[in-house]
Amino acid sequence: AKLLVLNGPNLNLLGTREPALYGSTTLDDIRRQCETVAGRLGHDCAFFQSNAEHALVERIHAARGEAVAFIVFNPAAYTHTSVALRDALLGVAIPFIEVHLSNVFARETFRHHSYLSDVAVGVISGLGAQGYELALEAADRYLQARSQ
Ligand code: DQA
Repeated sequence: AKLLVLNGPNLNLLGTREPALYGSTTLDDIRRQCETVAGRLGHDCAFFQSNAEHALVERIHAARGEAVAFIVFNPAAYTHTSVALRDALLGVAIPFIEVHLSNVFARETFRHHSYLSDVAVGVISGLGAQGYELALEAADRYLQARSQ
């Protein structure tokens, strides 16, 4: 199946951005890791990052036309602000897992609320780059269970 890994604002800075919090892994490392895991599971993996909310909304809309079966999404700061991204995901009705590198619940209270979590299949927070790998494995199982 076709999977889409989406990343929101400032994640292009990974590797140099607050390394104590987000680690030294770069977004390019995460892209390669996602491609490897998806390939091993027999899936195609598209990868997209943007700092702009509208570009993420449009990428989600385009995913429907491309028959993307599942989205792994780190919405970054838009997690805590964006009704538009919530509505885009509901609009295309593509199942998704929300991923955060850091444990958002161990941080400022404004990060404890997500506009996406209650409509996600699941949420992974605090496991670093491994979270993307686990999300792809969970997506694979979800799609297998659904096709039975
Ligand atoms: C983040 C957590 C968000 O609160 C923050 O705004 C980010 C990254 C994470 O991956 O831990 O930019 O989504």
